[in-house]
Amino acid sequence: MPKVTFVINGQKTEVEDTAGKTVLQIALDNGVPIEHACGGNGFCTTCLCKVKAGGENLGERNDKEENMGITDEDERLGCQAVVNGDTELELVEG
Ligand code: FES
Repeated sequence: MPKVTFVINGQKTEVEDTAGKTVLQIALDNGVPIEHACGGNGFCTTCLCKVKAGGENLGERNDKEENMGITDEDERLGCQAVVNGDTELELVEG
């Protein structure tokens, strides 16, 4: 199972979960606090994550991310980015 390391205010929390879930799903299923004002529909950016490592293990950027202007290589919407392998993400409020 992929290991996801969440960095929140400099503190790391590691969780292992099933491949194919979004970052938001994994965070919520494992009690990691993550904002998701639009309910994971790609309209708010409160779930914005900075990719610290393992960006290649996230699924391809989708239209919702591009429509919200999330185009930097190291930024992803947690509700849209699918985890396929180990990754480290810093949670920042968008
Ligand atoms: S939860 Fe709103 S864009 Fe991700």
